Amino acid sequence: MPKSIHMNTVTTSELRPILWKGDSVSLIDQTRLPHEEIWLEYSDFRDVILAIKNMQIRGAPAIGVAGAYAVALAASEFAANSRADFESSVNAAAKEIGGARPTGANLAWAVDRMMAVMQSSIAPAKMADKLAREACLIQKEDEEANRRMGRYGADLLPHGGAVMTHCNAGALATGGFGTALGVIRTAWEDQKISHVYANETRPLMQGARLTAWELVKAGIDATVLPDSAAGQLMRRGKVQAIVVGADRIAANGDVANKIGTYSLAVLARENGVPFYVAAPTNTVDMELATGDAIPIEERSPEEVTHIAGHRVTPDGIGILNTAFDVTPNRYVSAIITENGVARKPYEKGLKRLMEGDVARG
Ligand code: MRU
Repeated sequence: MPKSIHMNTVTTSELRPILWKGDSVSLIDQTRLPHEEIWLEYSDFRDVILAIKNMQIRGAPAIGVAGAYAVALAASEFAANSRADFESSVNAAAKEIGGARPTGANLAWAVDRMMAVMQSSIAPAKMADKLAREACLIQKEDEEANRRMGRYGADLLPHGGAVMTHCNAGALATGGFGTALGVIRTAWEDQKISHVYANETRPLMQGARLTAWELVKAGIDATVLPDSAAGQLMRRGKVQAIVVGADRIAANGDVANKIGTYSLAVLARENGVPFYVAAPTNTVDMELATGDAIPIEERSPEEVTHIAGHRVTPDGIGILNTAFDVTPNRYVSAIITENGVARKPYEKGLKRLMEGDVARG
């Protein structure tokens, strides 16, 4: 069981939702935000898996970072074992960690990167230290990538307008700083945008609870709206651009993101609003030719039947709780990464950025 620590000290844009403590990892409990800032301290990788499944930590890049620390915790737990036993136990743990949530590409990417470190033949205790250092590096690199992405994305946004976002792709969803919200924060600091619209994001309200919390803390003028109000707002000319994050991007630029993103992208096209996706290159899955092959998570019906613990639907009704959707590449105006901006045709543009080519769009 994790230790729980109440804190009310997260006040700046420097928020990191995951902190490595040397022999444990602390996560801010995102199911309790915005009302309570509670940090949970984990020393058992099995509890980190549960925290990922229960969405105490969520957002594809943050899940990747938490998964990397979970591998480090497993390695330290098994470090006293024989070399062979250490390897097979860490391998089994890594498999379990990698399967905690299926849609986001970053978790499998981070676990694979950790396991690539395991290849070298050094003593288990030393290997456990090496894995902890690798996990810290993954988090540091994620934040650095987001800051670079923020700059590329802010340069794309129109002057003086309002920007809409969906779900939470902020610091909370990453190693630090955020992807889509990092772009928005950078554009706000540049005084380039005047307002932010955050869709509430049913059923778990990541927009109303988490994005709103980050925007208020950052002092950014913002409004939360029901997901179903987005189209009307665009029709009235109140939205000049949309920026969202991504959980997995196929090689052709099809984008899996929080349910509701596809509807938003189609409405953006109808209303002539540019639709941007911001994500690190480790969200891009070059193995998948199109978004049709992206695994889409189905979550518990209770997330739909209940709001804040109260049942809102009658017994006996059927429930659909598809957590993500896929937006076809034709609706995506550009994909913003830490290596620059890809535009259509995405097969070519993404390949170039994945190879590390830096490009401005
Ligand atoms: O179910 P969640 O809250 O993990 O879904 C999160 C999203 O869909 C985000 O938009 C995505 O992970 C990008 S976060 C930088």
